[in-house]
Amino acid sequence: MKIDSLETLLIHEMKDLYSAETQIEKALPKMEEAASSEELKAAFREHLEETKGQIKRLEEIFEHMRYAPTGEHCEGCEGLIKEGEEIIESIDKGDVRDAGLIGAAQRVEHYEMAGYGTAVAFARKLGHDKIADILTKTLEEEGKTDRILSRLAESEVNVEAMATA
Ligand SMILES: [Fe+2]
Repeated sequence: MKIDSLETLLIHEMKDLYSAETQIEKALPKMEEAASSEELKAAFREHLEETKGQIKRLEEIFEHMRYAPTGEHCEGCEGLIKEGEEIIESIDKGDVRDAGLIGAAQRVEHYEMAGYGTAVAFARKLGHDKIADILTKTLEEEGKTDRILSRLAESEVNVEAMATA
């Protein structure tokens, strides 16, 4: 896709996020399966539901703007998900793997927050306030997930991981 304006740059950014979200939608059930902590499993499950809603939001924005959501592959997210898979492959099920999964998931959340933050700023600059508001909802959900993961990392999961080290 040729990017020749802030509007097409916004479209590009959102296509990238759409690709990221659909990759995350596939990865989250594997992360839930790989986790031991019930709280962590629940956090992944809850975020899967949110992610489905986030995908829908992007589809609605694209429909409104008359662009297809597809056409980009988010390499950054692919790399982050691959790192999560490496954690699963190299650490046996248990507290230490959970701690690693939280780290991998938080990297993904921060990556998404950067992407949505940028998209919100572009949309506002273009006067697309409704789109900016919709994207802000997703940005807030990613932030909330990140805080939940931080809390889990600080509470049971990492403490137990240290105890078994
Ligand atoms: Fe997301």
